[in-house]
Amino acid sequence: MALSDFDLVFFGGSGDLAMRKLLPAMYARDVCNDLPLEARIICVGRDHMSQDAFIAMVESNAKPHVKESVDDQAWRTFLQRITYVALDASDKKGFGPLVEALRDESLTRVYYLATPPSLFARICDNLAANKLVTPNSRVVLEKPLGRDLESAKQINADVGKVFAESQIYRIDHYLGKETVQNLLALRFGNILFEPLWRREWISDVQITIAEKIGVGNRLGYYDNSGALRDMLQNHLLQLLCIVAMEPPASIAPDAVRDAKLQVLRSLKRFTPTTLAQNIVRGQYRSGYVDGQPVPGYRDEPDAPKQSKTETFVAMKAEVDTWRWAGVPFYLRTGKRMADRLAEIVVRFKTIPHSIFNQPTSSFQPNSLVIRLQPDEGLSMNLMAKTPGDSMRLKQAELELDFREQFKAPRMEAYERLLLDVLRGQLTLFMRGDELEAAWEWVEPILEHWEQDDSSPVPYTSGTWGPAASSALIGRDGLQWREEA
Ligand code: BG6
Repeated sequence: MALSDFDLVFFGGSGDLAMRKLLPAMYARDVCNDLPLEARIICVGRDHMSQDAFIAMVESNAKPHVKESVDDQAWRTFLQRITYVALDASDKKGFGPLVEALRDESLTRVYYLATPPSLFARICDNLAANKLVTPNSRVVLEKPLGRDLESAKQINADVGKVFAESQIYRIDHYLGKETVQNLLALRFGNILFEPLWRREWISDVQITIAEKIGVGNRLGYYDNSGALRDMLQNHLLQLLCIVAMEPPASIAPDAVRDAKLQVLRSLKRFTPTTLAQNIVRGQYRSGYVDGQPVPGYRDEPDAPKQSKTETFVAMKAEVDTWRWAGVPFYLRTGKRMADRLAEIVVRFKTIPHSIFNQPTSSFQPNSLVIRLQPDEGLSMNLMAKTPGDSMRLKQAELELDFREQFKAPRMEAYERLLLDVLRGQLTLFMRGDELEAAWEWVEPILEHWEQDDSSPVPYTSGTWGPAASSALIGRDGLQWREEA
């Protein structure tokens, strides 16, 4: 679907996200001729800077993040779309330069708030006060969307005063990843899996997002957040929702979002006792990643020496529905781990009886691995006969590499999501009630940790996390896939 002409406004337009992700994503779409000829990008920042100085900044800070080699002519055309507007977003009277930069009201207007959430309410109010919110306007909210249920509700209420729910795009960039959408295709575009996609046939599900990087230069944000807020409440729960949701009637935004909401509302609540048994939090210590020595979390520049912020979480969650009762969903995420990896592993039950001269216990259960990172693909483990004259069965792998299979160029998550905003496609964005339901489930964990004197358990950088994480899944007679 061709896009109609738009004004896209990035608040936080000179910030890190705009430079690393948003502008490179828009360039990538531009070079593929997805953007209308006249479409404009308005970058709003606090710093007074000339247009030329800003363009120089884009050259040095955004251009290196363009994933393919840059076409000089296309890059010059792209830069011409950009206007820099300096204003203090919290000052109602200061919006004049933005009013001037925006074009006709009939065009699609997108206000992308890549700013701290503390500014969301002010920006929305000021847009309204300056009569900049038109029926064709949309607002995009970047994470962190709150730090608990109350603050998430406040964001929803503040933004909701100015924009209708159908105009609000809450970003979770994991939903923009190709494989996540492929999971929808796999589940609902094939007859094969759906009959098996339930407690009778599935024994457990593992969802892992492991990173090699540490906290980097984001300590100020991260130390107030931690892995539960930063990764689990959003990315991991969204993946869980897509694995566990009932088939929606269509791909329409509310059909999908209703189905995801049902999952979030069916997650079994933790009590202080079940929480202690089923959740492990860790914090990285020094170690080696890719052979290079790295400091521990508390030794990162500016880190509080007694910080209790978790950089790792593993948990056993349950979805209390007819379909999933009793099936453990093991969720795990951490920084400074052994590898960069994001994957979903669905393990099926073992065969009920062996007709071969091998005990049933020698049959590996079938499993489906859906890989998001580092490469995108899908593999299915099956038992197959080994060549030769005896009937010996061994595990074999059926592999689907999306990159090999489909030669079409890939889109980064932000490219896909920005296009969806510009098209007015809400399916891959969280609805307000979903956001609140996710926080509601996470909140007892946060409260418990706040009251609890204990600290996260240490783990060595470059490993798969604390031993307690292996023990958590080990209690059920299982192992994390990489440790099996
Ligand atoms: C962000 C988190 O949402 O996701 C970061 O704030 C994390 O801490 C990042 O590093 C991971 O995203 P990706 O796409 O690199 O897996």
